[in-house]
Amino acid sequence: MTTPSQRLAGKRAVITGGSSGLGLASAKALAAEGARVLLTATTQARADAAAAEIGHGAIALGADVRSAADLAALASRAKEVFGGLDIVVANAGTGTFGPIDTVTEEEFDRQVGINFKGVFFTVKALKPLLGRGASVILTASTVHAKGLPGAALYSASKAAVRSLARSFAAEFAPDGIRVNSISPGYVRTAFQDKMGMPADALAGFEGAVEQMTPLRRGGRPEEIADAVVFLASDAASYVTAVDLPVDGGFGSV
Ligand SMILES: NC(=O)c1ccc[n+]([C@@H]2O[C@H](COP(=O)([O-])OP(=O)(O)OC[C@H]3O[C@@H](n4cnc5c(N)ncnc54)[C@H](OP(=O)(O)O)[C@@H]3O)[C@@H](O)[C@H]2O)c1
Repeated sequence: MTTPSQRLAGKRAVITGGSSGLGLASAKALAAEGARVLLTATTQARADAAAAEIGHGAIALGADVRSAADLAALASRAKEVFGGLDIVVANAGTGTFGPIDTVTEEEFDRQVGINFKGVFFTVKALKPLLGRGASVILTASTVHAKGLPGAALYSASKAAVRSLARSFAAEFAPDGIRVNSISPGYVRTAFQDKMGMPADALAGFEGAVEQMTPLRRGGRPEEIADAVVFLASDAASYVTAVDLPVDGGFGSV
């Protein structure tokens, strides 16, 4: 049941990568603000578990963002259950880090496939469902505009995401659709467990990032979710083509 005070009452949302970390927190926040949510994960089982945790009638779909067939299935499911969409959060992403000589062609293709191709084709698949007033939010990263050793592949894939927000914003504006990206700073989630870094190295990395962050700490998933809700809401009705850093100041100093 929705109430008029909810900021997203009556809106229909798809979020990719809604099963973990920032996506799960954002899916919860979207639902708590009254949106109907369809979330994806890499498998149906992971998506189902997240939907059960979120409640609010959240709908789950396993869909690999690298697969055109899976994204077509996502679009038809969204059309079937919602008729159209008001919010798309293209959030699914991944990252591994290391000097250039450690990056294989296979890892390059995997990471670019999820972070860049995945975002591009998620938006392409769902665009026909978007109407006037809709909001598209792409998850970039604060490192998209930084030069950090060992982060070339991930940072470039996220620079592509930030670029897509600009181009899509210009292209979709005549249809009344806003497109923005969001750039989280360091937030401890399952993301870091998949980076392939030993625990002590990760702790050192985390400490170094905190020192480089004006607010001297990592973020919380809920702090990213708050920014997603803002961009998704009508409170951001005159905001398009921007990148919103939610990074404790890391990217701006
Ligand atoms: N955490 C940070 O410090 C940080 C900072 C800046 C930006 N980001 C960005 O924020 C986004 C979310 O990161 P997170 O920290 O929440 O990471 P996470 O906890 O690892 O969650 C990643 C999400 O993406 C999904 N996913 C991964 N590969 C996929 C694929 N091929 N197809 C469909 N879904 C896929 C995962 O599904 P499963 O659960 O099924 O694996 C999961 O829901 C990413 O784009 C990441 O690059 C994170």
